[in-house]
Amino acid sequence: MDYLKIFAPATVANVSCGFDSLGFAVDAIGDEMTFTKTTEKGVKITEITGAELTYDVDQNAAGAVVKKILNDANADFGVALTIHKGFSPGSGLGSSAASAAGAAFGTNQLLDARYSELELTKFAMFGEKVACGTEIADNVAAAIYGGFILVRSYEPLEIIKLPVPSELRVVAIHPQIQVKTKEARAVLPTVIPLKDAVTQWSNLGGLVSGLYTDNYDLISNSLVDIVAEPARKCLIPYFDAVKNSALQSGALGAGISGSGPTIFALCKGDEVATAVHDSIEEVYKNTGINFEVFISKVNQEGIKIIK
Ligand code: HSE
Repeated sequence: MDYLKIFAPATVANVSCGFDSLGFAVDAIGDEMTFTKTTEKGVKITEITGAELTYDVDQNAAGAVVKKILNDANADFGVALTIHKGFSPGSGLGSSAASAAGAAFGTNQLLDARYSELELTKFAMFGEKVACGTEIADNVAAAIYGGFILVRSYEPLEIIKLPVPSELRVVAIHPQIQVKTKEARAVLPTVIPLKDAVTQWSNLGGLVSGLYTDNYDLISNSLVDIVAEPARKCLIPYFDAVKNSALQSGALGAGISGSGPTIFALCKGDEVATAVHDSIEEVYKNTGINFEVFISKVNQEGIKIIK
């Protein structure tokens, strides 16, 4: 293969109780990227649209990942890369992760798919480090594997793909403000009372069990975050109003997508999702803050080749 075009999905990390360990991919939005083999070695980013990002390969999450993989594989060719961002950086929807994961996936195709999904996740984590300073796996793994993923361990890296109940829908509202992951991590508590830790890991176990058993009530009861959300919600205008309105309209739960500012709600079925969409749109309509709202299925296949 000498050329391909891919779609790399946006992702929701943390999913309330699963800080830094749970994530899922969405169908509705993502990046498009093209990869062309060049006889000249090295990486060149030839076009970026949809966001202001650096063309400096070492500073760009996608460019840095392509370069790292080509070096690792000792490739005898180079890659020309284009990136079309379908959503903005700093949204909390895994923007750098989509680019980094897409870069790992696309380059691997040019190398006749020699690397496993786990290896691609490791390469993509390097892109996360370039973009935000930390090698977090929850967004990149969700983009690469699709569906719900659990980062069971970082050392060694272990990713578990979890089932997705068929009626699960996501509604997300993206206020057009930027929250930097680095800043959102700086407000997190460094010590958690044992009682809170027990609550959090019990909810994580409950959520995973609910996904395996299609138990929407259990999913709903478990979508609670008492660690990151209380510390971070002050960074997101009208967070409580949006969350309350989503819950009143029948959402199973709602919380901060990744490090924000996007707020996500999980719902059972299209009808509830539409009601939640309309109610949270209503909350933001008169705030003077621009926003986008979307409904999506959970993306099951991860990154896909579209040409
Ligand atoms: N788990 C990460 C966080 C996701 O919440 O900081 C953001 O990349």
